[in-house]
Amino acid sequence: MLIAGNWKMYKGPAAAAEFCLALRDEDLRGVDVVVCPPYVSLAVAVQLLAGTEIAVAAQNVHWAQEGPFTGEISPSMLRELGVYGAIVGHSERRQHFGETDATVAERTRAALDAGLFVIACVGETEEERERGATQDVLRRQVSVLEADENLVVAYEPVWAIGTGKTATPGIAQEAHAFIKSLLDVLVLYGGSVKPDNAAELLALPDVDGALVGGASLELDSFTAICRAATRS
Ligand code: PGA
Repeated sequence: MLIAGNWKMYKGPAAAAEFCLALRDEDLRGVDVVVCPPYVSLAVAVQLLAGTEIAVAAQNVHWAQEGPFTGEISPSMLRELGVYGAIVGHSERRQHFGETDATVAERTRAALDAGLFVIACVGETEEERERGATQDVLRRQVSVLEADENLVVAYEPVWAIGTGKTATPGIAQEAHAFIKSLLDVLVLYGGSVKPDNAAELLALPDVDGALVGGASLELDSFTAICRAATRS
């Protein structure tokens, strides 16, 4: 089981340091834990979690190693910092920053080639689900990815992200099984995972962990989800 906390644009270096200092005192044996701070907080997180089993990943990564790409960060820069992996293709990047399946493919390939672990996000919008297009969307988003031992997919239905609306176990299981029929990967569930619904979701046969947004920002809720994973 893998539990990844996506901090989004929360926790600058001071708040990240405070969280990491507290997190490293927690007993999280039996679960793989990853935190994904914003870029400016990666260094302090790597430093404070060194020597623990907790890994640090970025929330995005560019495909080139360097170049005229204002505002972007390369795989080798993350490696230099001691970062372990990156999220790629989060729906917020697809919705607000023009991320496409083509750029997700390029970012993923470059990150894997550089030796980073990648959490590639897929998921349908509410409108796509309502018109019965969920499988077509997932097939299209997954088709640009290639199986790799350092790649996991996160199924994050867009309508469940930050909304408090979690996918029902039936919806999550069906989507995870479908993704696995397309690609031989582990699949995390993401979208309003909280301590009170984590155990039920993590117990599903094709759910291999969770990508947690809001509930990863508080130590108590994040560690409660990590502990639910050890019992699944
Ligand atoms: P949420 O976010 O848990 O706040 O819904 C999940 C995500 O965006 O990865």
